[in-house]
Amino acid sequence: MTEPHVVAITGSLRDESHTRKALTHALDAAKGIGASTELLDLREWDLPVYDADRGEAGDAAEFTRLVREADAILLGTPVYHGSYSAPLKNALDYCGFDEFENETVGLLAVAGGSFPITALDHLRSVCRALDAWVLPHQAAIPRASNAFEGDSEDWSWTDEETAERVAVLGRRVVQYANIEPEPACFESTENVGADD
Ligand SMILES: Cc1cc2nc3c(=O)[nH]c(=O)nc-3n(C[C@H](O)[C@H](O)[C@H](O)COP(=O)(O)O)c2cc1C
Repeated sequence: MTEPHVVAITGSLRDESHTRKALTHALDAAKGIGASTELLDLREWDLPVYDADRGEAGDAAEFTRLVREADAILLGTPVYHGSYSAPLKNALDYCGFDEFENETVGLLAVAGGSFPITALDHLRSVCRALDAWVLPHQAAIPRASNAFEGDSEDWSWTDEETAERVAVLGRRVVQYANIEPEPACFESTENVGADD
């Protein structure tokens, strides 16, 4: 079997984003057990606000190709108003069943406060609507400003337990990248919108 390829999409555009740091850590862990990896940093992609009348726009064709060709996908988001971020939602709207059906997905959320769980739940619902295979293990990073030291160029974790939870996420998407697909879930079979 060839080495699994993992892409991570980071939902924060901030230069000093903690989400980006955490996803980099997860990708390093994936690389550590033999995967090839790529971080899709939404700052670097021209993805105009999705307009269903236009469909593909800007860099969307290349972006969706990279997601489609991955064996596993990590989605990382900052918590914005109890949910996941608009840039990530916009990127996901360019994707659909072609990119996510039967795809292994790992979820990560980073919160300023102490409760990143709702954003993870919301992302899990999106992935189920597209019939992705979402890992039970997910990485929640609360109180983000205390979780990291340093800046985006040179940083470290303050808490080994959180670092390990994120590393496990990176390893799990590799371990489960090529699993037998489950039967389509109810949410996805009733979700005709993305296929219209
Ligand atoms: C528009 C906006 C809304 C936010 N809403 C929440 C929230 O509901 N709960 C929370 O814990 N943190 C919230 N935060 C804080 C971010 O989750 C926190 O700053 C996080 O580190 C951002 O991720 P980043 O460092 O990757 O940019 C919000 C931040 C912004 C800019």
